Amino acid sequence: MKRIVILISGRGSNMQAILEAAKAEQWPVTMAAVISNRPSAGGLSTAGESGIATAVVDHQQYADRAAFDTELMRVIDSYRPDLVVLAGFMRILTEEFVLHYQGRLLNIHPSLLPAFPGLATHKRALEVGVKTHGATVHFVTPDLDHGPIIEQASVPVLSDDTEDTLAARVLQQEHVIYPRAVKDFIEGRVRFVNGQVVRDGV
Ligand code: GAR
Repeated sequence: MKRIVILISGRGSNMQAILEAAKAEQWPVTMAAVISNRPSAGGLSTAGESGIATAVVDHQQYADRAAFDTELMRVIDSYRPDLVVLAGFMRILTEEFVLHYQGRLLNIHPSLLPAFPGLATHKRALEVGVKTHGATVHFVTPDLDHGPIIEQASVPVLSDDTEDTLAARVLQQEHVIYPRAVKDFIEGRVRFVNGQVVRDGV
C-alpha cells in the first residue's frame, strides 16, 4: 500500500476529488493524513469525516519560512508518505523542502503552465485575453510552478466570463486530471527521472 499525504490551505475540493476517486476505484493506497497550514481550512473537516488523520501546522506560529517548512517536514514524515500531494496548498516552499520530496511531490496549478505561474491566474488570463485557459498537474521542483508537467486540461475562455465562471470551469477539469495523475503515479506509470516526466509505454 502506498501512503499519501495531502496538503491543503482551504476548501479542499481537489483533495475531495482524490479521496472519492481512490475510494470508488479502490486504489491500493492509504490516505495517511491531510495537513493544513490554516486551522480554518474547510477541507480539514471533510477529511476528518472520511476518517483520515488531520494535522495543522500554522505558518503564523513560525518565525520564518525555513522554520515552518522544517516543522512541516517533520509532521509529514511522521506519516511516512510515498507521495505528497499539494492540493490548493498556498505556500511558497523552501528549496530544502522541495528537494527532500522531489520525485514524490505533486502540485496542481490553475493555469496552462508555463503561462501564468503564481497567483490570480484567472484574473490575469482574462486581462490578457487568452482564448484557452486550463490547469496543470506537475512534479514540484525548486523553480516555482515550473516543474515537469504530468497532465493538463484546457477550457475555452468565453466572452462573458468573469473570474468566478472561468475558475469554476477550470476547477471542474482539475477534479478530472488530479485524481488521474495521482493514480498514474501511485500505480507506477508516471515517474520523475532526471528532472523530466517518464511515462511507461510512451
Ligand atoms: C485550486 O484551483 C488549485 O488549482 C489552486 O487553488 C485551488 C484550491 O482549490 N492552487 C493554486 O493556486 C496553487 N498555486 P481546492 O482547495 O478546492 O482544491
